[in-house]
Amino acid sequence: MDMGLRGRTVLVTGASTGIGAATARLYGAEGARVALTYRTNREKAEEVAAHVERSGGEALTVRLDLEDRSGIGAAVSTVVERWGGVDVLVANAVRWGATPPDSSLRFEDVSPEEWQAMVDANLLGTVEVVRHVLPSMRARRWGRIVLVSSGVAEEGLPGPGPYGTAKSGLHGMARALAWNAGADGVLVNVVAPGFTLTERAPSADSPLVEDFAAAIPSRRLSTADDVARLIVFLGSGANGNLTGELVREGTSAARAPRVEEE
Ligand SMILES: NC(=O)c1ccc[n+]([C@@H]2O[C@H](COP(=O)([O-])OP(=O)(O)OC[C@H]3O[C@@H](n4cnc5c(N)ncnc54)[C@H](OP(=O)(O)O)[C@@H]3O)[C@@H](O)[C@H]2O)c1
Repeated sequence: MDMGLRGRTVLVTGASTGIGAATARLYGAEGARVALTYRTNREKAEEVAAHVERSGGEALTVRLDLEDRSGIGAAVSTVVERWGGVDVLVANAVRWGATPPDSSLRFEDVSPEEWQAMVDANLLGTVEVVRHVLPSMRARRWGRIVLVSSGVAEEGLPGPGPYGTAKSGLHGMARALAWNAGADGVLVNVVAPGFTLTERAPSADSPLVEDFAAAIPSRRLSTADDVARLIVFLGSGANGNLTGELVREGTSAARAPRVEEE
């Protein structure tokens, strides 16, 4: 199947590691021009960029910090100036909160500052990236936007959830944007991964991984490459008219209760 990505310009935020890195590599293999953003791991982003170039794509690394609103426009402009616009946006970067999430923390003990920072970065920072890529998509009357959310946005976590709350905002935004930009040829979808096997995750045979896997119908967790393949499909010419949708990967509406929740 032709993914229609040869010569297209793709911006993947948070592409130095994990799902973003896997996604950037896959776009590169499809012959796209890939702009990869990083926040602290410039070296890792450069490694991913080198991989993209070895596999036939073109690459550009740019620093983008979701917590620096004014810098976001400048980061997108760097890409637009280099390649004339952005055809595909994968909004994947994330500001993590307390890691691992503390399930003993009471809702009211999360400070207003942490709520503000989480919503500012993960919702409003993403809005800002989208605002800056849209003009060139509308001008070309073609665009694909994939917002990376999380299963946690629907399922919640035992601990308080600024992260899930900020992510769930992306779902409403995708619906609004699908209508707002659809007539200009821009398709917008959300990918909500479950707990995914990236380099940050515990090893595949850890009890935590087994516990999470038992709660989903396939009984296995997705890898970063699994999620990347879904993202690349939605953010490609192969996606002809799917928009405004939330697609779950490695989690499911048919999720079973986890053992400790029974
Ligand atoms: N992994 C999972 O189990 C899982 C599950 C559900 C949803 N997700 C979602 O999938 C996406 C990718 O997750 P991942 O696990 O692959 O993440 P990851 O490996 O931790 O990578 C996060 C990326 O975001 C960048 N980043 C961190 N803080 C940032 C900030 N303030 N502004 C801009 N960029 C920032 C990092 O850059 P530097 O490293 O250069 O600082 C890195 O490139 C996220 O949106 C996450 O919410 C992941």
